[in-house]
Parts: sequence; structure tokens; C-alpha cells
Amino acid sequence: MKSLIDWLDHRTGIRRLTREALFENIPGGSRWRYVWGSTLTFTIFVQFITGIFLWMGYSASSGDAWESVNYIQNEMTGGWLLRGIHHWTAQIMPVLLLLHLMQVIVDGAYKAPREVNYWFGVLLLLLVLALSLTGYLLPWDQKGFWATKVATNLINLVPFVGPELQQLVIGGTEYGHHTLTRFFALHAGVLPGLLVLLIVGHVYLFRRHGITPAEPVTKRDAYFWPDQVFKDVVACLAVTVAVLAVVLWSHGAHLGSPADPSEPYSAARPDWYFLFLFQFLKLPFFAGENEVWGAIYIPGMAVALICLMPFIGRWKVGHVFNVGIIFVFLGGAGALTYLAKQEDVAGQNSETYLRGVLSDSRDAQRVTALAKAKGIESTALSLLKNDPKTQGARLFAQHCASCHRYGGHDGLAVDLATDVTPDDLAKRTGMTSRFLSGDAVHPDWLARKTGTQDEWQPVKSILKAKAEGPFDVIASVSPLEKPSAPDLKGFASRQWIRDLLDPDQYLSARYFGDTAHRDGAMYKKFLNRKVRKYDADELKMLDAIAVALSAQAKLPAQAARDQADAALIRQGVQHLIDDIGCVDCHAFGEPDPDADGPDLTGYGSRQWIIDIVKNPEHKKFYPDNNDRMPAFGVKKILTDAEIGLIADWLRGDYPEPTR
Ligand code: HEC
Ligand code: HEC
Repeated sequence: MKSLIDWLDHRTGIRRLTREALFENIPGGSRWRYVWGSTLTFTIFVQFITGIFLWMGYSASSGDAWESVNYIQNEMTGGWLLRGIHHWTAQIMPVLLLLHLMQVIVDGAYKAPREVNYWFGVLLLLLVLALSLTGYLLPWDQKGFWATKVATNLINLVPFVGPELQQLVIGGTEYGHHTLTRFFALHAGVLPGLLVLLIVGHVYLFRRHGITPAEPVTKRDAYFWPDQVFKDVVACLAVTVAVLAVVLWSHGAHLGSPADPSEPYSAARPDWYFLFLFQFLKLPFFAGENEVWGAIYIPGMAVALICLMPFIGRWKVGHVFNVGIIFVFLGGAGALTYLAKQEDVAGQNSETYLRGVLSDSRDAQRVTALAKAKGIESTALSLLKNDPKTQGARLFAQHCASCHRYGGHDGLAVDLATDVTPDDLAKRTGMTSRFLSGDAVHPDWLARKTGTQDEWQPVKSILKAKAEGPFDVIASVSPLEKPSAPDLKGFASRQWIRDLLDPDQYLSARYFGDTAHRDGAMYKKFLNRKVRKYDADELKMLDAIAVALSAQAKLPAQAARDQADAALIRQGVQHLIDDIGCVDCHAFGEPDPDADGPDLTGYGSRQWIIDIVKNPEHKKFYPDNNDRMPAFGVKKILTDAEIGLIADWLRGDYPEPTR
């Protein structure tokens, strides 16, 4: 063994190196406050290792970057752990950097002869921030895509060379694929390379000048080994434990829904340590012309001031000034970060923000589940765009919810049991649920809590909701105007039809109570005049009719029951035609040009819904009612594909894989 080491030492001089490394003199002895540099070196090392492994699964192309990250996160063995460590280590680095910087400034370690090394340190700080910024884009999800777009737009403000510089950074005139490839080259190549060079220089210079003892020196000098090494190792272990704890708790790192250049994301925010800058820019003073001050000049001056500190610190009062300034910066950044968070959750636009977060969470969970179940044929985005569950609801909220409702809301309510978990939501918003104000609470929950079955209720504070117990559903809807058309949740299901055939229910807001049809033939000549007087036998016939008519819809959720109830359905059709006489006013089975009411053939089927949405004024439906529902197809408001998505969503006709 000894001869082997002798041989190695002869060839490399390793003994002297280790001796020098370990027996570096520390004036004043080891201290906990010296550990930050070591923890930083350690975290950077971790980032290199995890980064290289991530690279093995990552694809830097706008066509499949998200897909590859989804693969790492959800398919690759241990991928979530790898990604989680990389992500959360990156989150902790700004904190360590700040602590390191504070230690250096408070202890006066930046003063002569260590100015150059101090500048290396500042450069390292900026490099790490640049690594974070470039890394944020790589998953190619909505939040990274839109937040980075905002950031790169700011480059345009740089005096003289702004537009050129911006083109250089985003890789042409268009923000997109080439921005991604460029950012990846920066993130995995250029910046880490520079980082290594700077760290080597930083450590070399640090060793050259030694440690600046923290005042007052009370202890004897000591060697780096073993005391300081021990402290450094403990600190690195603490960092490791902290990171692993968060990784395990959050199962890796969040991946939003795939970037969609056509769908601006209202909740795009930079990573938390850039939030103060984001908020700073929003100060009224920086509106319009003055933006360049907030984005370039003032941050530039702040960095310049930090760089000048070694000279300012030559005077005793200068040092005090430096320490003061650092704390002022820190306090200011903290306050701005707090304000940014506060504004998101309680400010004027908090609802838009929350809506964005909710829909992103929902889309992300949905597309991941679909990808897992079906695989990704072309892109994850197209998978999402062709998904009735998310797109149907979105289109409904956009085009139909001005008149119709869906279970009392606009179609976009979030089911906390299945669509998005409260934990995920809290994590995403980074806030406690207290801040989810301006939201709505589901009637079921309200009933459970207050005993009143009411409409969807906006609540001021969900903290209340959370504190009082579990809640199932919250809606991301603003209070809507009064509905003027039927609620389409469960449209054409047995229950929906049976309730419609009840005179009182027919007149409620759920059906035609708020429409011109409250005085139509269906109510006046049939429900009010006849059904109100029905005896038990006749009511039973109505039950059978509801079942029979509902079978026309061929709803996936009812398929088994429809098959089982074939006899009842045949009976129902009989009643509908012969006994109750629905066909006096409705066509059924064959066209009837003289019918007053809508054609009930195939009622609620995919085709029936598509037809009425395309053209409700068609003589099959409501020919004389042309002032009501727009003819979405005829007027080309919606494409056939979009109408299909809405129909499938209303009918619950989509796969429901679990994640
Ligand atoms: C301007 C208000 C309005 C809008 C917008 C509207 N509808 Fe309607 N819709 C109505 C009214 C009113 C009726 C009842 C029949 C009538 O008067 O035409 C109706 C009827 C329907 C029906 C027949 C079932 C029933 O409950 O009567 C369906 C299905 C339907 N709408 C779907 C949609 C969809 C899908 C959209 C969005 C693409 C939409 N509607 C947009 C007002 C509207
Ligand atoms: C007196 C004529 C008349 C009779 C009888 C009648 N309906 Fe209607 N029905 C209408 C009319 C007209 C409408 C359109 C709303 C209006 O203007 O009242 C309508 C609407 C409907 C609708 C809603 C269509 C939509 O837009 O979604 C359903 C469902 C329906 N009727 C089913 C039935 C059934 C089932 C029966 C037999 C049990 C029946 N109706 C009997 C005239 C009638």
C-alpha cells in the first residue's frame, strides 16, 4: 500500500497537495460562518453530476423538450429524484450565495488585498443566477416559456445594442425553438465552463490570501483539518438533508403544462429569487419610458456599487456603509418579494393569476395522465389540444357560459379531489390557502358546512374553508351573470331529462326558467296543463320516457344501464309515441316538418349536440328562436373540431386514466 502511494506521490506530488489543502492555517480557528463557500462548491458539484444525468434524458427541442422532461419525471427510474435534486439544489443556491456574500462583507473579507477575489465572487453570483434563468426555460412548460419571454423582452431595453442583443440571446427575431437550443447550450455548456474557471480562480486566490478572521479573534489559530473540515462536512450534509427532504416531500419538481405559444399564461412568474426584480419593475415609477431604469440602470448600479465596496470599505465608516447597504438591499428585496406574492393572491389581478395557476395545474395533470395512458403520438401539446375534458370545458367557458351553466359554474371549476390537489395548488401558488380569496366554493361543500344548498359561492377566504374541514371543489370563476339558458351538466342523462319533465323544475333556473321558453308550448300546453294532473301510473310512464329518451344520447356513462334496461326503454318509446303523445309536438324516429318542439331523434347524441350548436335555428330545433343562441357553425364562430370537443366534454366522452 505504502509503495503504491509512494509511486503515486512521486508521479503527482499528491502528498504535498493534500498537506497544503488540509493544513491551511485558519487564523482565529475554525468557525461555522466559514462553511458557506464549501457548501456552494458542494452544491455546484451536485448540479454538475445531476445535470449530466438529466442531459441523458433531455431533448433540447421545442417539439419534444416537455415530452422528454415528462419522461424523466414520470417514466425514467429515479428520474423524479434526479430532477428533484437538481431543481431544489438550484433553489437553495441563491440562499447560500447570499449567506456567503453577507459573511464576506460583514467580516470585511472583501477588503484589500482580496478585491479581485471578491469580484470573482460577484461574477460567480451572477453566473449562478444566469444558470437559474436559462434552466427555467428548459422544461418548456407554460410558466418557463412565458416568464422567460418577459425576461428576454427586457434585453431590448439595453441602451444602444438592445435589439441586437435580444436577437442574439433568443436566436433570431422569433422567441421559440432557437431560444431553447441557445439557452440549453448556455446552461449546459458555456455557463458551467465559465463557472469552473471562476471557481478555480476564486479558490486559488482565496488560498493565496487566506481567511480574514472574523472579529474579535478570541481563539487560537488552527488548521483547516480537522475542525473546519468537520464543520464544512456537517454543513454540506445539512444542505443534502434539506434538499432531499423537500424532494421527497414534493416528489421531484413541478412540471407545468406544455408551452403553448398561442395561449398567453396569466400566471407566469420568474423563480422566487427573481420575484423582487419583477415586482420592482411593476412600481408605477417604471411605467413606460422609465422601464429601462428599473430593468437596466438601477440593477446595474446596484451591482456596480457591490463591486465598489472594497474601495468604499477602506474607511471605517465606508465599511459600516457597506454592511448597511447590504442589509438595505436585502430588506428591500424581501419586501418586494412579499409584495409580489401578496399581489398575486390578494391584489386586483389575483383572480386572473389564480385562474392561470389552476388551469395550468389541471392541464399538467391531465396531459401527464393522457401521455401515460395513450403515449404521445406527435406532441404533448396536441394531445392536450385534442382533449375534450380540458378543451371542451375551456371552450364552453369562453363561448357558452354567458348563457348556460355547467353544474352552476362556467365549466372550469376545479375538482380538488380529481383535477388538482389542494397540496399541489398550495405548492404552485407558494402560499397558504388563506390567499385563495376571490374564489368560489362548491354548493355541496357549502351545504355540508352551512346546511344551505346555494349557488356557487365566492368566498373571501379559503383558509376558513380549509380550517373547517375538507372541501371538494373550488371554482376558478368570477361570479357570473344570471344564466339565461339551461344548465348543461348531465345534459340528456336520465336524471336531467326526468327533472326537465317536472313542471316546477322546468321553471327553475336550471332549465328554462330564465328563458323565453318558460311560456312556450312545452310548459304551457304540456307540463302545466297535463303533467301537473298526472296520476301515479302516468308519472311512471314519464319515468320510462326519460329513460328511453336518454338512451338516444348513448352516453358512455350510461352504456351499461342502457343495455340492462332494454325492455324498459322499449316501453318508454311506446309511451312517448302512443300514450303520452310527445310526438304531437316533437319529431321522433322520423322527420316531422310540422313539429313545434325540437326533434328528439338521437336527442343528446354527439351528432344532435353538434347539429344544434352549429345551427340552433335549423327547423329541427328552434326555427323561430333566432334571437337566442348564436349559430356557432353557420357563423363560423367555432370550427367543427371545436364543437366536437364541446359535445364530447358535455357527454363525458373522454378517457379518464388515473395518473
Ligand atoms: C346567447 C345565449 C346562448 C349561448 C351563448 C349559447 N346558448 Fe345554447 N341555448 C341557449 C338557449 C336560450 C337555448 C334554448 C333553446 C333556444 O332558445 O334556442 C339553448 C339550447 C342549447 C342546447 C339544447 C339543450 C337545451 O338545454 O335546450 C344545447 C345542447 C346548447 N344550447 C349548447 C350550447 C353550447 C355548447 C353553447 C356554446 C358553444 C351554447 N349553447 C351557447 C342560449 C345560448
Ligand atoms: C304541446 C307540445 C309539446 C308536447 C306535448 C311535448 N313537448 Fe317537449 N317541447 C315542446 C316545445 C315547443 C319545446 C321547446 C321549448 C318551448 O318553446 O316550450 C319543447 C322542449 C322539449 C325538450 C327540451 C329540448 C331542448 O332544447 O333540449 C325536451 C327534452 C322535450 N321537450 C321533451 C318532451 C317529451 C319527452 C315530451 C313527452 C313526454 C314532450 N316534450 C311533450 C313542445 C311539446
